[in-house]
Amino acid sequence: MRRRATQAQWIAAGTIVHSTAMAGRARAGRRVRRRGGTGVLQVRRYTADDCDDTIAIFLAAIREVASRDYSPAEIEAWAKVEDRAAWAERRSSRPTFVAEHAGRVIGFSDLEPDGHLDMMFVHPANQGIGVASLLLETVEEEARKQGIGRIFTEASLTARPFFERRGFSVIARQSVEKRGQRLTNFRMEKFL
Ligand SMILES: CC(C)(COP(=O)(O)OP(=O)(O)OC[C@H]1O[C@@H](n2cnc3c(N)ncnc32)[C@H](O)[C@@H]1OP(=O)(O)O)[C@@H](O)C(=O)NCCC(=O)NCCS
Repeated sequence: MRRRATQAQWIAAGTIVHSTAMAGRARAGRRVRRRGGTGVLQVRRYTADDCDDTIAIFLAAIREVASRDYSPAEIEAWAKVEDRAAWAERRSSRPTFVAEHAGRVIGFSDLEPDGHLDMMFVHPANQGIGVASLLLETVEEEARKQGIGRIFTEASLTARPFFERRGFSVIARQSVEKRGQRLTNFRMEKFL
């Protein structure tokens, strides 16, 4: 079983490079050394060069991780990126953050101007080691910077426990249509 490291452990173990002002908290642009591991987990802004990596992570996370909670037909309907240019435009049109480890992008998330968090995906090989937590802390910091007091998202069955652990609550269970399939997710929110 893969060893877990919580956000606190990342920080306790390592080396908060960026700031001393926010002890115990992660910060955008920060780098945190992974305990017992090699290299540094870093969250930074998305650039156009990250487009294909984010697509690959999106598809792999759905096919290899969310697939435990959704049927094969639902996964097939969800795991599709038909328009690369539209994907690139969406990623660039809002603050998007990527997590990078050992020179590889391993997760990403974003924040829309109204507080909507649209994306939270972590590569299957890097699950359960605090990557999404670090991304979420970065998103929350960006929201605070922008004066956004509430973040909301549509969490998959797979992601709901993660968001709950990080202080989100469920507003409603919903069923959304995707390419002819109906997928369950949860409208969730967190006040900052
Ligand atoms: C959901 C997801 C983003 C979580 O990423 P992650 O990097 O593995 O999450 P973390 O390691 O930061 O986990 C943070 C906390 O959430 C908890 N958690 C995460 N996934 C969980 C699960 N499926 N069940 C229970 N707890 C879970 C962890 O136990 C951890 O809690 P702790 O640190 O307090 O012990 C990842 O599993 C994923 O990519 N899933 C597939 C794609 C998906 O459904 N994305 C969301 C679309 S809305």
